[in-house]
Amino acid sequence: MSSRRTFLQNAVVGSAAVLSGEKIFAGPVKTMEAILNNPIVISTWDFGKAANVGAWEILQKGGRAVDAVEAGVRIPEADGANQSVGYGGLPDRDGRVTLDACIMDEFYNCGSVMCLENIMHPISVARLVMDKTPHVILAGDGAFQFALANGFKKENLLTPESEKAWKEWLKTAKYEPIKNIENQLYDKKKDPMPGGIKNHDTIGMLAIDAAGNFGGACTTSGMAYKIHGRVGDSPVIGAGLYVDNEVGAATATGVGEEVIRIVGAHLIVELMRQGYSPEAACKEGVERIIKRNPAKAKEIQVGFLALNKKGEFGAYCLQKGFTYAVRNNKEEKMYTPKSIY
Ligand code: GLY
Repeated sequence: MSSRRTFLQNAVVGSAAVLSGEKIFAGPVKTMEAILNNPIVISTWDFGKAANVGAWEILQKGGRAVDAVEAGVRIPEADGANQSVGYGGLPDRDGRVTLDACIMDEFYNCGSVMCLENIMHPISVARLVMDKTPHVILAGDGAFQFALANGFKKENLLTPESEKAWKEWLKTAKYEPIKNIENQLYDKKKDPMPGGIKNHDTIGMLAIDAAGNFGGACTTSGMAYKIHGRVGDSPVIGAGLYVDNEVGAATATGVGEEVIRIVGAHLIVELMRQGYSPEAACKEGVERIIKRNPAKAKEIQVGFLALNKKGEFGAYCLQKGFTYAVRNNKEEKMYTPKSIY
């Protein structure tokens, strides 16, 4: 056994002994495997790779997972070329960009904003809801006023490109979702329907820090051209995101209505508690969606991504095309999960 391994093993035994008998939620890392896998950050879609860079800066300095995921998802939130998250997100059918986001830490603390307009970083407003209020969710104008009162700037989030796409859509105003639109964003030639309904997508990010504690964040502009006021799964704790420091964390992407119906992220964490691997838990999640409505499931995308306490990760999706990004001490890599169809 290498001297590093011996040192780490002694460190694990030592910290467990110091803390024995105390009731804590955010316990020390318990296994050698976990120590060697941590820290780690994983996130949905190709744009997760750039987001992971922001998270990794914090994780590699020994920062908290919850701080890392907040910093990480702020990167796609500020990217105007990304039409499914934050600034530049495609608007609702009235031309209004409305954002949903939530965040959760290792103590079951959570914060969420729904249908928030004119604020570039909904994830940081959700973080303040978690840290500075007795509430979990703020919505609409209340969330906006709370953001202004806490120093956020009012900004126009509708980019000329997204306004153009919306005006094109208005010509027919048809709801014809395109699957996996987020993978076409950076290649306009592949976009078959610039004015068509964009199937939205989301960044969900999960991390374990060097201390073995979890954090998770999820943020989106939601379904393009939705009815004003529509909220998807992303800011719904348990649906778009769930973190349980004893077990693991999960997040979702795709058609939020289907994810909410099965309380997807919480389901996946509970399956991992029962011993499912992250990938097997995510597969069971998408199978529940198929079971409810097999015909519909063939037409939409939903993907789940999960991370367990050992630092093992996995994903599963309905349709081909979903990707996720991983960063840890061993790799910085994109993965393509298995799909049902
Ligand atoms: N999954 C994002 C949404 O449905 O809004």
